[in-house]
Amino acid sequence: MLDSNNIEIHETAFVTSTFRATDVILSKDVFAYLWRNPKTEKWIREYLKKVSSEETFTHCLRNRYFLESIKENIGTNGIEVLINFGAGFSMYPFLLDKKTINIEIDKWEVVEYKKPKIEQWQKTNVLPKRNLHFIGVDFSTAYKDALLTTIKAIKGNKKCFILIEGVLFFLDREETDNLFDLFNSIQNTGDIIGSASFQDELKESLAFKRLLRFFGEKVAKTKASDYQTVKDEFYQRRANYSLMDHQDYFSLSKTYNHKIRLQKELILNENFYLLQKMKS
Ligand SMILES: C[S@@+](CC[C@H](N)C(=O)[O-])C[C@H]1O[C@@H](n2cnc3c(N)ncnc32)[C@H](O)[C@@H]1O
Repeated sequence: MLDSNNIEIHETAFVTSTFRATDVILSKDVFAYLWRNPKTEKWIREYLKKVSSEETFTHCLRNRYFLESIKENIGTNGIEVLINFGAGFSMYPFLLDKKTINIEIDKWEVVEYKKPKIEQWQKTNVLPKRNLHFIGVDFSTAYKDALLTTIKAIKGNKKCFILIEGVLFFLDREETDNLFDLFNSIQNTGDIIGSASFQDELKESLAFKRLLRFFGEKVAKTKASDYQTVKDEFYQRRANYSLMDHQDYFSLSKTYNHKIRLQKELILNENFYLLQKMKS
């Protein structure tokens, strides 16, 4: 990991956590700094210059929104389990009450890197102890039955919040549908999904074109069709779920009193959705 000049898809997780660490007051992620490293810092300097300098704040606000949504659902909706799909190096378990059960799922290379680091930081009291389970899975493979069994064994019948942020962009529609079908099999009435994605219209923006050019230089995938965008209807029309909340970078900036610096065309505006499972 982190030994060549190019960046792999799973290494984008370092980038996300480094963005979160740059404005802790906004992100509320006081542990994101632990993942900082020289290769990512160099990559980020270039990325902010060539793609969009607003990217630190879009990632901070995303973390803030989901953190507060999860906390609220723990407090008022009886959520006991957080399941983070494509968790990367996010640090929600340590920002939440210690009673919460956490399941983090990502590619093996991420899990193999993250787990021992977390255990080491817990041993040295840098991080508090938490009920945390890591599962290594690639969503592009046939993983569903085994993963469902593993999750059920940990979660039992407890209420859960499923989070998927910063991931759908890298998946195709079939992989996405498979994941949301799995969420439906995992969840019971009242359970929540939190999802982040880009809308189709973003592909026309200058910021997106710059992102593609930059990824073309640095990441294996290069065509716009390689990166998934998602329509609102995907969330509005999900069988068994109702859309509870829909935000984006602009609305969250108002909520959390953040002053936007760039014009719209230069911002990678991400959309954030909360879905609740209805009675079937
Ligand atoms: C941009 S990072 C976001 C990480 C984290 N959700 C966050 O917001 O900090 C994208 C994550 O998706 C994971 N990912 C991408 N494709 C995946 C796949 N096919 N199977 C499992 N994980 C995948 C990557 O390994 C990486 O950790």
